[in-house]
Amino acid sequence: MKVVFGRDGEIEVERAPLVGVLLATDQLKARGLPLAVADVARGPIETKDFTGRELETALVYSGKQRILLVGLGDPKKLTVDTLRRAAAAVVKRARQYKLASAALTLAPVPLAVEESGRAVGEGLELGNYAFHGVRTDAAPHRLGSCAVHYAGSASERRRFGDALAIGAVVGEAQCLARDLGNQPSNIATPRYLADTARRIARAGKLRLKVLARAELERRGYGGLLAVAKGSAQPPFFLEFEYRPRRFRRTLCLVGKGLTFDTGGISLKPAQGMEEMKFDLCGGAAVIATFSALRKLAPNVRVYGLVPCTENMPGGRAIKPGDVLKTYGGLTVEVTNTDAEGRLVLADALGRAQELAPDHTVDLATLTGACVVALGHRASGLFCNHDDLAQKLKSAGDLSGERVWPLPLWEEYLDEMRSTVADLKNSGSRFAGAVTAAAFLRKFAGDLSWAHLDIAGTAWDTPRNETYEGGASGVGVRLLVRLIESLE
Ligand code: BES
Ligand code: MN
Ligand code: ZN
Repeated sequence: MKVVFGRDGEIEVERAPLVGVLLATDQLKARGLPLAVADVARGPIETKDFTGRELETALVYSGKQRILLVGLGDPKKLTVDTLRRAAAAVVKRARQYKLASAALTLAPVPLAVEESGRAVGEGLELGNYAFHGVRTDAAPHRLGSCAVHYAGSASERRRFGDALAIGAVVGEAQCLARDLGNQPSNIATPRYLADTARRIARAGKLRLKVLARAELERRGYGGLLAVAKGSAQPPFFLEFEYRPRRFRRTLCLVGKGLTFDTGGISLKPAQGMEEMKFDLCGGAAVIATFSALRKLAPNVRVYGLVPCTENMPGGRAIKPGDVLKTYGGLTVEVTNTDAEGRLVLADALGRAQELAPDHTVDLATLTGACVVALGHRASGLFCNHDDLAQKLKSAGDLSGERVWPLPLWEEYLDEMRSTVADLKNSGSRFAGAVTAAAFLRKFAGDLSWAHLDIAGTAWDTPRNETYEGGASGVGVRLLVRLIESLE
């Protein structure tokens, strides 16, 4: 979607078929209203049909122009989340009327101008998202453009506009992550992820290595190869690099790219197994983040590692009790073939150590246990480095993609000792999210490293104006904030 701002934006606002007017409860007086809408807006405001309550809406007409009042609630309690949702609500309504474009106007609110602009930009893109798949009915209507007007001073308008553009880029990237997640596994295969990565690398002038099976064998990616053994789809290991002219810090991102997880020979129950097409959402977040980096141009070097494969119970599949050697050299006894995510991540963490980044963050739909622990509102955070944990915590709060710490104690590995290899890949029924993280920690070596278990946040999270269900695209906003904090 084209997001128009500045002088063009103002003209658009006057003639747009629908204008969203975002209003906090202290902006309902005639003085607080944009001139063009003051007259028509008076009706619902004076009758108190519209009180400015958070995300309350009222629709009035000025001739054929629709004016959608959207409440922001008490300005003292206003959050960027509400602003993001309000912007999405405007797009949603314009889509409902099948309009080609819309406009949105707001006056300064008690949030940093940069935060406001960004939230609006993100909200516009997220509100315009829809996944149609291969349905043969009419595709859901989407907006082609949206004009934005901000009633601040000249300098505030400039800062708002810059932030708006950043928000739109981030929102668009999050929509790409959603698309990769929502795509069924017979479409979003490991090769599809590799092709998508190539397209993104070309467009963003990023370096990208795609390691195919022969290379994986030569180099010893034993975890990824073992998981891929039961599948007819060949595995790929993606390695992005974004290298700006100037940078002080290097961050390595790792994403679990399981395009489908049947559990392998330790087969999952049939009920709900279709959801395992979402098992690539960590990888999707990393790939999508790279799609935004050239436009955001942060002064941080970023690597992105995404091991891509299916986990299938084929005739060549690994069996419980089989052993393998990971990229870093540690060996694993596979006592449960459904604990496959940690095997492919083990390889990636081994590779990350060779790149010598300042920090490494992996994202993975790793355990059902994490969903039990935290539900759908926070990702599990496991971290061996206090400063990185703090940065992720702040990035989560700023972006709304929140994370919450869980322990990373050595003792949890006790139940994963093996007699035939360095480690087993599964333990008891208890603390599954924590034992998985303890396993990964072994493969992170001396890296400053964080593991984010996004099993509960990657799909089927609470719905609102910015999200209709399916893949949430979680991770993109969080990672962009983290990268910015390392500049
Ligand atoms: N992809 C799953 C984790 C998952 C399950 C995410 C359900 C979201 C919903 C992962 O590969 C897995 O199967 N984990 C096992 C680990 C166990 C075998 C030690 C799990 O969580 O049951
Ligand atoms: Mn599994
Ligand atoms: Zn999995």
